[in-house]
Amino acid sequence: MSSHHSPDPAQDRWDVHRLPPAEGRTFLVTGGNAGIGYFVAEQLAGTGATVVLGSRDSAKAEAAMASIRSRVPGARVRRVPLDLADLSSLKASVDALGPHGLDAVVHNAGVLLDEPQRRETGDGHELMFATNHLGHFALTWWLAPLLTAAPASRVVTIGSFTAKSVDLDDLQSTHGYQPKRAYARSKLAQMLFGFELDRRLRAAGSSTLSVVVHPGGALDSLTPSRPPFHVRTAGARLRALPLGVLLQGKEAAAWSAVRAVLDPSVRGGQLWGPRVLGMRGLPAPEPVRGILADTELAARVWAASRDLTGVDPSSRFG
Ligand SMILES: NC(=O)c1ccc[n+]([C@@H]2O[C@H](COP(=O)([O-])OP(=O)(O)OC[C@H]3O[C@@H](n4cnc5c(N)ncnc54)[C@H](OP(=O)(O)O)[C@@H]3O)[C@@H](O)[C@H]2O)c1
Repeated sequence: MSSHHSPDPAQDRWDVHRLPPAEGRTFLVTGGNAGIGYFVAEQLAGTGATVVLGSRDSAKAEAAMASIRSRVPGARVRRVPLDLADLSSLKASVDALGPHGLDAVVHNAGVLLDEPQRRETGDGHELMFATNHLGHFALTWWLAPLLTAAPASRVVTIGSFTAKSVDLDDLQSTHGYQPKRAYARSKLAQMLFGFELDRRLRAAGSSTLSVVVHPGGALDSLTPSRPPFHVRTAGARLRALPLGVLLQGKEAAAWSAVRAVLDPSVRGGQLWGPRVLGMRGLPAPEPVRGILADTELAARVWAASRDLTGVDPSSRFG
């Protein structure tokens, strides 16, 4: 990571454990019932904001909300049903949010398959590309009126470092399917979406910002327990200790997304990730370069996503 883009750590006053208050604001976290999304929701709930978990599983969402309430006294947290793999269901999810403004959405939910068989959604799209990218692309269209109704709202998209080493010649991995490659493609498409969205928002004169973040490398075995849905045994904790040199837990992996939601100094079009080799540590801005800065590719992926979903999120902001 080039250092000229990073704030001097000694000058950086952002404290991940003392977040600015955000009473009266509302944040939606997709996949907020587990993993990194859970910790994004828990940390945002600590600001006094209303946090909405977008979750396809009501029992898991209930468990996550109970955990947040037990740790954050007076937490304002609720759930809307959300299945990103079913494009026709998204309208109902956004209707359930209610008519109020939305200050930020964190596009966190993601699926990483490892079986060798390629899978498709009911809409006929490759499952990881559909869930991780197309679902969030279309959700942004549905959310646009709520985001526009809030002052200086933000769309925060969670990408991955794996995205930088893949091509997008076959968006939906129809030839020679490899699960890791299909996943990386979905994450690259998401990151290009986040950058392209910001360019389009600026062109439209919108006050909404789009910010891309990535969590580094996050393991459940380095993640503190949140019973009943995540329990780390003492043995697992010990075995994972050496991995902590390079990687981190999901609580820390949430920090970049939380900062991208809350920090007034974060700008649209930026990329934030963990400071130490982009794998672990406190959030820092990273240069946007290489394939992530390919505006022609981003425009091509945008057009393909618009054709596949039938909506163009940028047409609804302004
Ligand atoms: N962990 C890492 O090292 C790492 C590295 C780079 C990027 N990331 C990214 O970080 C994000 C979170 O990862 P994680 O490690 O926290 O994953 P995780 O623990 O597997 O959690 C994924 C979340 O996404 C939800 N989800 C999956 N499919 C969904 C669908 N169709 N509709 C709605 N929600 C759905 C899951 O809900 P259910 O509980 O219902 O399955 C769960 O809440 C992902 O975008 C991932 O690509 C993670």
